[in-house]
Amino acid sequence: MALLPRKKRRKDPLGGNSPGGAMVKFKEIGIFLVERRMGSSRRSFLTELARKKGFRVEEQMSESVTHVVSENNTGDEVLELLEKQNGICSTGFTAALVDITWFTESMGAGRPLELENCHRLQVKRISAAAVIGTPISPYACQRRTTLNNKNRLFTDALKILAENAELCESEGRYLAFTRASSILKSLPYNMTRMDDLQGIPSLGDHSRKVIKEILEDGICSEVENVIQNERYQTLKLFTSIFGVGVKTADKWYREGLRTLDELRASKIKLTKEQTAGLLYYEDLNVPVTRAEADLIGQIVEAAIHRFLPTAVITLTGGFRRGNESGHDVDFLITHPEEGKEEGLIYQVISWMATQGLILYDDITENSYQKWKNQEPEKFDHFTKCFSIFKLKREPICNLELSRPSNHDCLAVNEIGRKGLADRAGTTQHVTAAAAGDKDWKAVRVDLIIAPFGQYAYALLGWTGSRLFERDLRRYAKHFKHMNLNSHSLFDNEQNKLLAAATEEEIFAHLGLDYIPPHERNA
Ligand code: UTP
Ligand code: MN
Repeated sequence: MALLPRKKRRKDPLGGNSPGGAMVKFKEIGIFLVERRMGSSRRSFLTELARKKGFRVEEQMSESVTHVVSENNTGDEVLELLEKQNGICSTGFTAALVDITWFTESMGAGRPLELENCHRLQVKRISAAAVIGTPISPYACQRRTTLNNKNRLFTDALKILAENAELCESEGRYLAFTRASSILKSLPYNMTRMDDLQGIPSLGDHSRKVIKEILEDGICSEVENVIQNERYQTLKLFTSIFGVGVKTADKWYREGLRTLDELRASKIKLTKEQTAGLLYYEDLNVPVTRAEADLIGQIVEAAIHRFLPTAVITLTGGFRRGNESGHDVDFLITHPEEGKEEGLIYQVISWMATQGLILYDDITENSYQKWKNQEPEKFDHFTKCFSIFKLKREPICNLELSRPSNHDCLAVNEIGRKGLADRAGTTQHVTAAAAGDKDWKAVRVDLIIAPFGQYAYALLGWTGSRLFERDLRRYAKHFKHMNLNSHSLFDNEQNKLLAAATEEEIFAHLGLDYIPPHERNA
């Protein structure tokens, strides 16, 4: 999945030559001409004129714009336009909204004139930003989103539309509904009327319509229709199987399948992952509790410390953001002495398997060196294991915490890099899973191995939420000309990687206020 829309980089946004080639005389002034009511040809003409006179005119709204110039628009209209078209209303937005008279007078004078009140456009509306006291950023990484969602009625509805868009492989609509839902989650008040939406960025017409209907009727007919829709229901069911994506679910749907029983009875060839997903379906669709996550944490830690006593294990993902439950448990593993972590995952998984703790595992080798910057759409390239744990219902107390014996190490070497046995789908487990009276629960666990130097980036990347991560990367690119991923931060201007030992340092590199994990629930 593409994390970032690829945008053309503007050349030297802060000065130097203007795109027309003329020298920029007034570097500190950045003009953005609003096309609405001005028209594109007049806008082009004025752009040329200003550039010839040494003014910097930006084609797009950006942080470096100081004067937003428009003709025959009110301040409210310009603000609304900027929010809609550019998602602007952020803390980064400090530009003055000015009338064309400032522009023409400045052109006449051959220099930027001081702004007077008569040049400024009046903004009448009371925005949500004013209620809150600060402007609301269209970037999730500049908002504080706790789990205390005051607008669940609206966010649940928008989430269903986002899900449906995703199942229709409509990335644009998925993002629009997800962003709208996310921004409402960050509001410190409960929305009761449409006026409460004023000044809130990232809300398109479609999302506004949904909110309006819910405010008026209590429900939204489009959402109700989606919930009743057979394709939506079936694809949601199939994609809730571990290892099944939208494309596969859609294929099965088109082949006429509608239920898990039909899928089980069909001749369809499943992958290893899907076989396990279907086998443990019921367990895997019961949310993992915090207590279960902590218990698994103890097991993982004990297993890892058998082989590498000073390794550091961190619970990440939704649980690190304070969630009381989750769909899986994510652990990040590192060692202060870089290199010590190599090979660890095989030893640990292999040993846990001998202890009967693993129902399924899929280890992916580190591919960072091979990859570098070639596939930015991939989340990351760490060595990791997507697994299914067999979690005993009674407390685990018989786990040996001693150092590994030679036998353990031999077993690891034997199985080693050829990949561990595929334990899912054995008769033993089919019977156990089907029996229903089992004393264990299947739980999805992700173990990610990060070299120490990349640990802070890995932690930030794996803590989520997904939208928070996406917006961090988008922000880095757009405002800082930096590439952020779960391995590193690359500064394109200085042409170098920026090291960071903590998440705080990464936020500082990006010029962002630090947002702690429990406020990243965007
Ligand atoms: P999860 O999918 O586990 O989500 O990914 P979650 O936020 O913990 O919520 P649950 O599990 O559904 O309750 C955790 C974070 O790790 C990143 C994503 O940014 C996500 O927010 N991630 C996930 C990766 O970097 N790579 C992956 O392959 C998967
Ligand atoms: Mn998770």
